[in-house]
Amino acid sequence: MLTAVLGMQWGDEGKGKVVDILAEHNDYIVRFQGGNNAGHTIVTPQGKKYVLHVVPSGILQGKKCVIGNGVVIDPAFLREEINNLRAQGVKITPENLYISENASVIMPYHLVIDKLKGGGVGTTGRGIGPAYTDKIARTGIRMGELFDSEKFLEEKINTLLKEKNKEIKDLGGEPLETSKILKDLNELKRDRNYCLGFFITDTQEVLNKAIKKRENILFEGAQGYLLDIDHGTYPYVTSSNTSKGGIHTGTGIGKNMDHVVGIVKAYTTRVGNGPFPTELDNELGESLRKKGGEYGATTGRPRRCGWLDLKLLKKAVIANSPDSLAITKLDVLDGLDSIQVHDPIGGYNSLKGWQKDISNLRDYKDLPDNAKKYLKFMSEQLEVPISMVSVGQRKDQTIFLQSYKKLKK
Ligand code: GDP
Ligand code: IMO
Ligand code: MG
Repeated sequence: MLTAVLGMQWGDEGKGKVVDILAEHNDYIVRFQGGNNAGHTIVTPQGKKYVLHVVPSGILQGKKCVIGNGVVIDPAFLREEINNLRAQGVKITPENLYISENASVIMPYHLVIDKLKGGGVGTTGRGIGPAYTDKIARTGIRMGELFDSEKFLEEKINTLLKEKNKEIKDLGGEPLETSKILKDLNELKRDRNYCLGFFITDTQEVLNKAIKKRENILFEGAQGYLLDIDHGTYPYVTSSNTSKGGIHTGTGIGKNMDHVVGIVKAYTTRVGNGPFPTELDNELGESLRKKGGEYGATTGRPRRCGWLDLKLLKKAVIANSPDSLAITKLDVLDGLDSIQVHDPIGGYNSLKGWQKDISNLRDYKDLPDNAKKYLKFMSEQLEVPISMVSVGQRKDQTIFLQSYKKLKK
């Protein structure tokens, strides 16, 4: 069975938590786009917290993890992330992490250019946009090429740096040197603890074999629909296809998904610049930020908060065609007198809030009536059933609904 977890808003919907829940029923967990701009938080029932950036979230459960060709990878950052996870007792070996030889490398000049140029959009500064720019311009370096002859790499970097340094100088930055870039890359490649070269493989083939063996594969989206390069709030977007189509281009797997889970936060957040029609730039927004812990998992920036926007969610449903929705952070709305919703034709609906703490509830029937009405309204408007309702950070703080059964083998 092929399952996908996709964000329906501007990212940070709680994809990490849902992937962690679904990983139990899957053999492989696959990232197919984005890079370490993502920050996916997982909190165990014991309260231990992990934040994953480019390594798929299934690694915590010892699942086989794949970083597909559509991902952009900063090899130095990846080493840090692997080392940090290993230090926390997570096993990562070439037997459970497979990296596509065709994934694009985030080079040091991409980081410099992103930091100098990304301010307008409010990027994460991780070099994502500049790395994808080179991919599309056909001047990028792929992971497999890092292990070509040193002469080849030196020539390629030398040629590229002429252009990049011109751009960096124009932007007021310090030019880079090929020799330093090569020296650092060699150090990474030779790091025997890291084993970068052993992770790199033909991941299309790895996944194809798994499909032939009828293994279960979970595709872990990063960012969200409204940050999609084609469908999002351009130019205030990321540089990859975050929606369903990205799964196929980002892995080389054409087989259709058996189940797509759309992740919807019970309100809306956005980190970075750009339009946000339902934004609450006031005390209420501040209180949602505090209660929901809405600070970026990657950059620590405060997230902008606002009401649910069904008008935009409707478009996310068209693009991703989710079979079910996971509604997250419903507990953050506890205690509000009323909840506003931007409806599909752009008006506002006001629904009654509830005064009960729902974070300890595990059964749908125990939810306050007004919470049920809110969920029902969402599901009816979007015409998609709900499979899960998340009522807290921890994995066990989850209510499963009828359609969740379809997500198990
Ligand atoms: P992702 O990028 O989609 O994986 O989401 P992030 O991890 O960036 O942000 C989601 C944040 O909300 C994390 O701190 C999660 O631990 C937290 N979270 C997830 N689900 C819930 C929930 O139902 N209630 C509350 N209060 N927090 C949640
Ligand atoms: P996860 O996977 C929220 C935002 C940045 C910026 C824009 C472009 O954790 O949901 P980029 O560095 O990608 O070029 O920045 O996209 N952004 C995210 N916002 N969650 C994310 O990932 C994001 N990844 C990028 O804030 O507005
Ligand atoms: Mg996040």
